[in-house]
Amino acid sequence: MTCPRCGVTGILDVQFDYRAVARRLTRGALARRSDCSQWRYRELLPIGAWARLPALAVGWTALGPAPALARRVGVRTLYLKDDGRNPSASLKDRASAVAAVKAVEARRRTIACASTGNAASSLACMAAALGLKAIIFVPERAPEPKLAQLLMFGATVLRVRGSYDAAWNLCQRACERWGWYNRNAAVNPYLVEGKKTVSLEICEQLEWRPPEWVAVSVGDGCTIAGAWKGFREMRELGLIRRAPKLLGVQAAGAAPVTEAFRSGAALKPVEPHTLADSIAVGVPRNWKKAVDAVRESGGTMLNVEDEEIEEAMRTTGRLAGVFAEPAAATSVAGLARAVKEGIVPRRAAALAVITGNGLKDTRAALAAAPRPIDVPPDLAAVEAALER
Ligand SMILES: Cc1ncc(COP(=O)(O)O)c(C=O)c1O
Repeated sequence: MTCPRCGVTGILDVQFDYRAVARRLTRGALARRSDCSQWRYRELLPIGAWARLPALAVGWTALGPAPALARRVGVRTLYLKDDGRNPSASLKDRASAVAAVKAVEARRRTIACASTGNAASSLACMAAALGLKAIIFVPERAPEPKLAQLLMFGATVLRVRGSYDAAWNLCQRACERWGWYNRNAAVNPYLVEGKKTVSLEICEQLEWRPPEWVAVSVGDGCTIAGAWKGFREMRELGLIRRAPKLLGVQAAGAAPVTEAFRSGAALKPVEPHTLADSIAVGVPRNWKKAVDAVRESGGTMLNVEDEEIEEAMRTTGRLAGVFAEPAAATSVAGLARAVKEGIVPRRAAALAVITGNGLKDTRAALAAAPRPIDVPPDLAAVEAALER
């Protein structure tokens, strides 16, 4: 899976014959396709014509304007791409679906990954749909709802005493030892291919005029690298004229990628501290791809505090009706900060990718939310409470 010369740090890049793809993947051809899932972009996915696909609705998630939230964030137009609507409720389904299809293609019966939660639950979901056995390494602090998903999808769950990084190393060694198909984004080049479909959809759903800025939260870096590959390929195919600038957003307590972006030096691992568990990554393996993607797009990276993430969770829910998990609301928080700092102009159109649903981490949601009002079953008490 990785470059034989560079070892585990040399993640491969899937390339296509874009001239051949351009002949078939046209705006007109897409308009005639009835497949409302990420598989509608078959020509740009590394899977065979007869590949067995999971019978789940992966991708083609809702995209719409959020005018009240746009006013709050401070931009002219704000779109939300709600990837919390995927089968296991996160963007990771796009990648896990491709990985599971590749595992079947490679005639493996077992597929494994280490994850802070979403990659794991999505892999367990896709493995269940394709009849594969999933073995998942999770760090101790994975939120319970994500753990519940894993167990319900029938995965074998190994809860590793230690951080995400410890879980990752253990999974890596186990895959080598037992020959399981490895879904880890740090080594598997096909995951980017699944993740890029979010951008293909953004282009098509916005009638080939993507906004000037697209905000994506960053943990390991694979998601934003995938998002950029999608926009780059759309441009290469002539389906869009201009690709958006990417705004990569990290939590201030786990921001080694932003640091590498700013310094231009190699990544320095950190001890992550943030409520946004999905992006609490101290040793991101795709940092270089992420940094290159943001640079190439002409965009930038910034960090937000946990309080800004909580505020974004509340406003995204209250003003747009979209329930985002902390890592997902991080993109909205980042946009708000980017506007304040004059990075994203107020007249700009922007899009925030909501990478996971808020039900995935109800403890974080309840900590960020206002308290309910306790009342006795009595109308006068309701009136008094409402007046207060
Ligand atoms: C909800 C959510 N948002 C953002 C990310 C960040 O993606 P990446 O780790 O590929 O940078 C993740 C990764 O787990 C995630 O689950």
